[in-house]
Amino acid sequence: MKAAFLAALLALGLAVHAEPLDEHYEFRAVHDADGIGKFYLGREIARVMGPGGIPWLERPERETEEQPQLVIDAFEIEPGQTIADLGAGSGYYSFRIAPLVGPAGKVLAIDIEPAMLEVIAQRARREHIANVTTVRCSARDPNLAPQSVDLLFMVDVYHELEYPFEVMTKVRAALRPGGRVALIEYRAEDPAVPIKPVHKMSERQVRREMQAAGFRHVKTVRTLPLQHLILFERS
Ligand SMILES: C[S@@+](CC[C@H](N)C(=O)[O-])C[C@H]1O[C@@H](n2cnc3c(N)ncnc32)[C@H](O)[C@@H]1O
Repeated sequence: MKAAFLAALLALGLAVHAEPLDEHYEFRAVHDADGIGKFYLGREIARVMGPGGIPWLERPERETEEQPQLVIDAFEIEPGQTIADLGAGSGYYSFRIAPLVGPAGKVLAIDIEPAMLEVIAQRARREHIANVTTVRCSARDPNLAPQSVDLLFMVDVYHELEYPFEVMTKVRAALRPGGRVALIEYRAEDPAVPIKPVHKMSERQVRREMQAAGFRHVKTVRTLPLQHLILFERS
């Protein structure tokens, strides 16, 4: 009886150790209602925006509020490049970038949410846009081949990643030599930016987290109305 009990405990112990360990994260019972109670380097991770957010992503005012052309100019895209739009949503940025990479280049529109990818695939078919490809990813893996991407960007996405360390480690491996990563986030330093706190990030926090994943800061673009664009390369 005693031996059977010990064997059961041992089996339980082994099962517990077989679970992936979230050594990078901390879980708190008391947390922001817009967050998931999971913290990375002191920051609470935000809840994911679902397909119900598409009308907000496609709102016409976004053009003046966000000035996407300033963001795209800062990417310095060249024809023929492979650009990854991680957390592409409804493709707001993917379709603006497609003409810049041209027929020899491609835009990988990546998302965790199949309904978002379906919206992108339908628009690509409808508008006969051949260089935007949808890619379904998982919470831990952006599903990119090693050394395959010239620029990976995330607009208003990084703060939602449930496993930022794991995802950015894979992103690092997916960059071609000289490849860059651009994170665009609402500025937490500015109380006038009308966005919920867990959906904003300070430049300091972004840089801290990217350094932990093996990236070096290249530059920060501070001329956007509400966001900052923070550019990195492999360190
Ligand atoms: C606020 S929306 C931004 C969409 C788009 N970047 C834009 O600016 O229009 C956030 C997007 O990130 C996606 N997302 C959240 N977590 C993700 C993850 N781990 N991997 C890929 N996409 C993710 C969501 O499904 C959603 O489409």
